[in-house]
Amino acid sequence: MSGIIEVPGAKNAVLPVLAATLLNNGTSILENCPELDDVFTMLEILSALGCKTKKKGSRIEVDASNLTSSCIPEILAKRMRSSIIILGSVLARCGEVLISYPGGCEIGMRPIDMHLRALEQMGAEVDGLKHGMLKVSASKLQGCEILLDYPSVGATENIMLAACFAEGETLIRNAAKEPEIEDLQEFLKKLGVSVSGAGSGVIRIQGVKEINAEPVHKIIPDRIVAGTYLAAVAATGGSLVVTNVEYDHIGSILYCLRRAGCKIKNYTGGVVTLESDGKLKALDLVRTSPYPGFPTDMQPQIVALLSKCSGTSVVVETVFENRFRYTEQLQKMGADISVQGRTAIIRGVDKLTGASVEARDLRGGAALIIAGLAAEGETRISGVNYIDRGYERVEQVLAKVGANIRRVEESRNMI
Ligand code: UD1
Repeated sequence: MSGIIEVPGAKNAVLPVLAATLLNNGTSILENCPELDDVFTMLEILSALGCKTKKKGSRIEVDASNLTSSCIPEILAKRMRSSIIILGSVLARCGEVLISYPGGCEIGMRPIDMHLRALEQMGAEVDGLKHGMLKVSASKLQGCEILLDYPSVGATENIMLAACFAEGETLIRNAAKEPEIEDLQEFLKKLGVSVSGAGSGVIRIQGVKEINAEPVHKIIPDRIVAGTYLAAVAATGGSLVVTNVEYDHIGSILYCLRRAGCKIKNYTGGVVTLESDGKLKALDLVRTSPYPGFPTDMQPQIVALLSKCSGTSVVVETVFENRFRYTEQLQKMGADISVQGRTAIIRGVDKLTGASVEARDLRGGAALIIAGLAAEGETRISGVNYIDRGYERVEQVLAKVGANIRRVEESRNMI
């Protein structure tokens, strides 16, 4: 494979920023938004709450001056687990929110106890209702000091959003340091909120009474999409230029790809190049951890790559308790992977062989595409709707850089 891929805006940045547009009694303009199902679902949620939304290509406008509801329709909340990110801003703006409790998913239970405990500390009342519904209300939110047990991305974002309308200062310790948190901070600053510390682990937010702003904000590039395409070319061999990336945001991913034997260069203006001869070396240990560690959202893709590298690799998943289920599918393609709890031992094989496999979650699905491209023969992947949640027109992007991949017409869900 060889060619150029321009990386779109980050899904995990645009979702909390869209949630934050609810705080604004005016119109917010977002640029560089990815065209993904989860983004469309979030726009539907905003519309259901009374926002007027407009979308033209990667530009989105949200007018939240006239909210009419604080209830997130169950059908929309269930479609997207990260709908919980709307909790903080609806609570702050409306004084209450009704949402269905998110269930488990392929990669683990994904509880929201930290989100709820923090909101309770700020004065909110949390009621578990019948039929898995959750009601959170607060006549007034009070700024306070919150120590997170773990630097949860979603909990940090929900607290930041709720804190915008809390009385006084909110201080979050052990906050998540992900670049998407910094992007949210940048947007909140454009709304006129005094917020600082994102990226450092300690965030301070000074609450305001009302927000009337006209922010224009460009969403940061998607570091996981960039990493996925780089890993694909690392696995097949070839050369790739990715543009619209933040080098530092993908530092831990590039570190692993370099150690495996890829040649990587960084140019100014958000350009990174990778060259691979397709004959890479195993990595003795990759441990996922919160940013700036190796991202859990790249774990399946790196395992797919390592399954064809010479030698034995060990990958430890520390963030989610159940994120190796996709390895069963890789085994169908000839990969030699044994999983014990949170550890996967990958013995590199000379070749992977095409097979019929099923994607059951987003990043596990991306791993199957990487393995399918690196395998001999044809691979058929079902469950492509999961992959579509994080990658815009994935087959077109890859085909343009030389991959032999197509979406099978008769079923939108097969690649
Ligand atoms: C976000 C990302 C997701 C990424 C993850 C970790 C979005 C939309 N999603 O998810 O792609 O994989 O960060 O980088 O940005 N936890 C609790 N209780 C809580 C909250 C979290 O126990 O109240 C646990 C989770 O089960 C998990 C860990 O904390 O084991 C990390 O989760 P968290 O950082 O909250 O991930 P998300 O925000 O859900």
